[in-house]
Amino acid sequence: MENPFQFEKLPSPENFFGREQEAERLRQLILDGKNVLLFGDRRYGKTSLIYHVFQSLPDTKLHAFADLFSCVESYDVAVAMYKAVYKALPFSIERKTKELMSAFKRLSFEMQPTASGSLKFSPKPLSRDFDELIEDALLGAERICEKHNKSLVIALDEFQQVAEIKDKRIDAILRTHLQKLKYISFVFSGSKKSILSNLFINRQKPLYGMSSSISIAGIEMEEFKQYCEQRLEAEFEPGVFEHLYERTRGQTKLILQTGYWLYANQLALTFESVDQVIDLIIAEKDEEFRLLFSSYSALQRKVLKMVGVFNGRNLFTKESLERFDITKQSLNQVLTKLIDVGDLQKQEDDTYVVSDVHFHLWIVKSLGGI
Ligand SMILES: Nc1ncnc2c1ncn2[C@@H]1O[C@H](COP(=O)(O)OP(=O)(O)OP(=O)(O)O)[C@@H](O)[C@H]1O
Ligand SMILES: [Mg+2]
Repeated sequence: MENPFQFEKLPSPENFFGREQEAERLRQLILDGKNVLLFGDRRYGKTSLIYHVFQSLPDTKLHAFADLFSCVESYDVAVAMYKAVYKALPFSIERKTKELMSAFKRLSFEMQPTASGSLKFSPKPLSRDFDELIEDALLGAERICEKHNKSLVIALDEFQQVAEIKDKRIDAILRTHLQKLKYISFVFSGSKKSILSNLFINRQKPLYGMSSSISIAGIEMEEFKQYCEQRLEAEFEPGVFEHLYERTRGQTKLILQTGYWLYANQLALTFESVDQVIDLIIAEKDEEFRLLFSSYSALQRKVLKMVGVFNGRNLFTKESLERFDITKQSLNQVLTKLIDVGDLQKQEDDTYVVSDVHFHLWIVKSLGGI
């Protein structure tokens, strides 16, 4: 029997569950042509939700998806946008190329043979200037929409990446277009809440007030439990799923991954086996997280270790500070910096957690006992 838990790929329509409210809201905003900011921590399901909602849109609403994760300069963002629009058009390759040749003024096409022997057309910009390219991509897409009586939503996933791009003020340039576009709206999505809020929620920033926000937290616990029990064909012992949900902060991927191993090894659904599986999942990433940890400065490592040892609680007590030989000011500075870059969060109950739940669990396990 194939394992019924899928946690690495985006879920197929049969595997997608939960998120009814978020999906409905996102769908409605897209249909109304509104811009949306979709934010939430890593691996909770932002990208999955976007794809899910895109599948349900009517033919008159085209959808384009650009992952900005690997963009390091403004040119890359423009290329990603062209490619997304190109892919979104529901025409044959020949027709697409023709349409785009007439709609876009700054674009040519490269023909490359593929492994299967057919030809692949890749859009190739004729300029390197972001302002020019973005204007061309968006106005070209507007012309196509107008001509075919369609509208278009473009998802810019991992949008926090634009804060790292320094050669152009992408947010300011986008703003000028956002105000003018008639047929195009955007879904901006990303995981670094502090960076995204700085781009959208700070009054001084160009994108302030330009979008409606949807926050993606954990899938509702009872729904998640039922989904897992159905697939495991067994019930969790009392309190066990709640324990799993709490340890993983409800993170979709980690819970599904736990389900995967519980199923694969046909384990009883007890506290012991859940903790055992979580340990295994943490250990799998040991090498990667060691490297990640060593990329922080000595002082930052000290603070991350404190978070691990005290599980993010009571960091400022005299005992904590003495034990780690750190001053209140230094601790405060490092925490603020780590929060600013989105690596750490202060929760409602005043505890500090590492934003990436998996990395947090690794820190607690590997450094917490020392
Ligand atoms: N609603 C859902 N139903 C079923 N599986 C889901 C759902 N949401 C997320 N998943 C699972 O969780 C994994 C992580 O989700 P996804 O990649 O969408 O998260 P993300 O928030 O976009 O993460 P990142 O910030 O790292 O890009 C997916 O690969 C998928 O297996
Ligand atoms: Mg994603």
